[in-house]
Parts: sequence; structure tokens; C-alpha cells
Amino acid sequence: MTVEKKIFVKTYGCQMNVYDSERMVSAMKPSGYVETKSAEDADLILLNTCHIREKAAEKIYSELGRMKSLKANKPDLKIGVAGCVAQAEGKEIMVRQPAVDLVVGPQSYHRLPTMMKTVNKGKRALDTEFPEEDKFDHLPKDLTKRSSPTAFLTVQEGCDKFCAFCVVPYTRGVEVSRSPEKIIDEANSLVDRGVVEINLLGQNVNAYSQNGFGVKFNLSKLIWKLSEIDGLKRIRFTTSHPNDMTEDLIEAHGSCSKLMPYLHLPVQSGSDSILKKMNRKHTADDYRKIIEKFRKVRPDLLLSGDFIVGFPGETDKDFLETLQLVKDIKYGQSYSFKYSSRPGTPAANREEVCESLKKDRLAELQLLLSKQQMDIQKSMIGKEVKVLFEKPGRLNNQMGGKSEYLHAVHVIGSSLKKGDIKSVKIINTEANSLGGVLI
Ligand code: SAH
Ligand code: SF4
Ligand code: F3S
Repeated sequence: MTVEKKIFVKTYGCQMNVYDSERMVSAMKPSGYVETKSAEDADLILLNTCHIREKAAEKIYSELGRMKSLKANKPDLKIGVAGCVAQAEGKEIMVRQPAVDLVVGPQSYHRLPTMMKTVNKGKRALDTEFPEEDKFDHLPKDLTKRSSPTAFLTVQEGCDKFCAFCVVPYTRGVEVSRSPEKIIDEANSLVDRGVVEINLLGQNVNAYSQNGFGVKFNLSKLIWKLSEIDGLKRIRFTTSHPNDMTEDLIEAHGSCSKLMPYLHLPVQSGSDSILKKMNRKHTADDYRKIIEKFRKVRPDLLLSGDFIVGFPGETDKDFLETLQLVKDIKYGQSYSFKYSSRPGTPAANREEVCESLKKDRLAELQLLLSKQQMDIQKSMIGKEVKVLFEKPGRLNNQMGGKSEYLHAVHVIGSSLKKGDIKSVKIINTEANSLGGVLI
């Protein structure tokens, strides 16, 4: 009999890392590992890391310092680093932190069990290859009980866009799409285990392109196919790219009732000159036109975006154009960042905008974005939404869930269960959530 061992995974970065962490846990199951939520209990600690901005990456080294001290009390404890920092700085991690036993990149984590055999022999293991084989073909089928009615499902990975600021094409590799048959199979298995909402993931999810069931699939075709699954009630996707937007995907937002009225479409900047320097290959007006088309088929669509301020060369005029774009579009949700220079990217050697200017611009942009978010939240008061309930709230008999617009909504109701979808009238708004009553 194998002795049960415990694995603890700490996840940083984007939703794809959340998905990968789940898969790493299931990859280690056949070797006798069960998941624990406490680092102190663990026999194996994996940090699934993010390299997108300097701060995100630096955090890992301080976290590793802390993990090292756990090793002092538990000499058999193994520590691994996975994800995008592992891919970008694998060898450096090994040198900088001797307590690290293994380093595994995002495309090779199906090899974890084999790597652990090496580690258990007292050696260190590093794998940051982009292997020929598809990791998904080598991972055990995930049959674990789901604790949430919503799930992520990676359908596409990697990026060929090479935005001048971004590490993702280097850490995740080229764009690859999974087969439609395997995706449908995984979706069915999720639904069988109680999932009612699936969020399709990809670094450029609308670049999805793969043959299956004898035909060629793009993202909208895949969404329509998934919508045939009876028990699946809601479909979302993230993150899409303006240059991969297709008419049929826009159309699906007007005609596919399971596809939720929410779109995360990053633009990064409202200045054409900065977009050019960023190598985005689209203009601010291209973006405006796409949003216009979406709003024609789905006027209530909630829009979310990503912005970078202080990209090298950004002038006051460029920044004003970003503010103008935000005013024109009106976002319900957003993510905005100060530009962070990343080693190895084309923009890394360009002269930087000074830090205090970046800080001021970010504050001004965020003020505008949070006002827009609040305006949209206030406009929901009195409206009826459908909430998918996910977990108990802070108060007695309170349940929390998400509306079709991805607003967090809290409702009091003793009969509410996880996975219910109910009509709710919105009665108030807090900073980041709405309050409602059952109708
Ligand atoms: N594939 C997605 C998201 C990539 S990373 C897309 O193309 O939109 C998520 C966000 O992080 C980006 O949209 C961008 O806004 C931000 N980001 C990426 N690199 C950055 C950098 N070097 N500095 C600051 N923000 C960055
Ligand atoms: Fe990064 Fe640009 Fe690719 Fe998005 S599209 S992952 S920002 S290179
Ligand atoms: Fe970070 Fe890698 Fe995701 S760099 S944002 S974890 S793709």
C-alpha cells in the first residue's frame, strides 16, 4: 500500500494557473498524493507562479524564503516551482534558492510524477521544455469531486502576438488549441460532477482553431457545440484579443442563450501611437468598432478591459487618449497596471516613463474606471438578474453568487443551494458587490 502524502499548491497569476494547479494536483494523485490547504501539513509544496510584472515575479523569491524555514522542521518536505517564473527563470531559481527541489514549466507539468521520483532519490529536477507531446494527453482524467458549480476549462494556450511588453509568448509558447472532442469530453465530465457554468480559458481564447467531429472549429462553433450539453447552463470565455474577433463570435452573443453577456477585451491603450509601439496591430478605433458591433447584438453586455499606463514613450497626450477611450466605451470592470519592464521583451531596453508620472496616471485612470464601475453597479438597482449561487455569504442564511454580468450578488434565503440559478431583484450596491432579494 502506498502511504498517503499531502500536496499543497499556492497559485499566483491568471485563471489558467488556477486551472493548471487543479491539474497538477490530479496528476500527483496516482502517486498517492492528496491535496491539503495548509503548507505546514504538506509533504510537497508547489508554487504555481506568474511572471507578468516584476512585482509578481519577485514575490516568489520571498515566498520561497518562507517555505525554506518549513523545511528546517520537516527535512523530507519537497518544494517545487511551477508556472511562468519557472519557465522564465528556472535555472536562476535553482541557484538562488537551494531549498527548491524541482522546477517545472507550464507545458511539462504532466511529467511531475516522474520528476518527483528523481527528487525522492535526493536529486533536484528541472524541466522547462516545450515537449512535442501534448500534456493534456498525458494527464490523468480529472474525476475529483467539484466544490464549486463553476469551472475553468483551458481550450487554447500560448500566444503568437508578441506585444512588446509581454512575457507570455516566451513563458507559454506558441498558440495551441485542444481538440474539440477532448474539450466536450472534459465539459461533460465537469457537468456530471455538478458544474453548471464553464469559463473557457485561453491566452488568446478567440484564436481557438482546431479540427474535430470532422469539421473545423473556431471559438463560436465550440461554444455552440458546448451549449448542446443539457446540464451546462452558462458559458463564458476569457481572454479574447481584438485581432482575433470574428463576426460569428459577436453574433453568438445575441443568439446563444447560454453565452453570458460579459466580455473581457483588453485594449491596453487608447493612443494609436502607443498601440503601434506596443505592437498591438490594431488602432483605438478598431477596438471602438468591435465594441459597437457587440453592443448592437447585445446592448446590455458588460465590458471589462486591461490597461497599461506609462509604456515607454507615453506622452500626456497619449494618456489623455486612453482616458478618452475609457470615457467612450464605459467599462463595468477593469484591470489597470503601471508598465513593468520585463527582461527579454522588445520594450525592455526602451527609455522608461518616470515612476511618479506612472503612479499619477494610474491613479487618474483608476479613479475614472472605478467611477464607471460604480455607475454601472448603481444602474443595476431595481433590475432583475439571474444569479448562479456559489457559496455561503458572511451573514446567516446568506448566499453569494454571480449574475449573468459577473457581478457578485448577495442574497438572504435559507432555501438557497450551491448551483441554484434564481431570479433576483437588485436592491443595493457596495464597493465590489450587489445586494438583492429573491423574486
Ligand atoms: N492574453 C491577454 C492577457 C495577458 S496578461 C491579452 O492579450 O489581453 C494580462 C494583462 O497584464 C495584459 O492584458 C496587460 O494589461 C498586463 N500586462 C502584461 N504585461 C505587462 C507588463 N510588462 N507591465 C504591465 N502590465 C502588463
Ligand atoms: Fe501578452 Fe499580447 Fe499575447 Fe496578450 S496578446 S498574452 S498581452 S503578447
Ligand atoms: Fe502570469 Fe503566466 Fe498567466 S505570466 S498572467 S501566470 S500566463
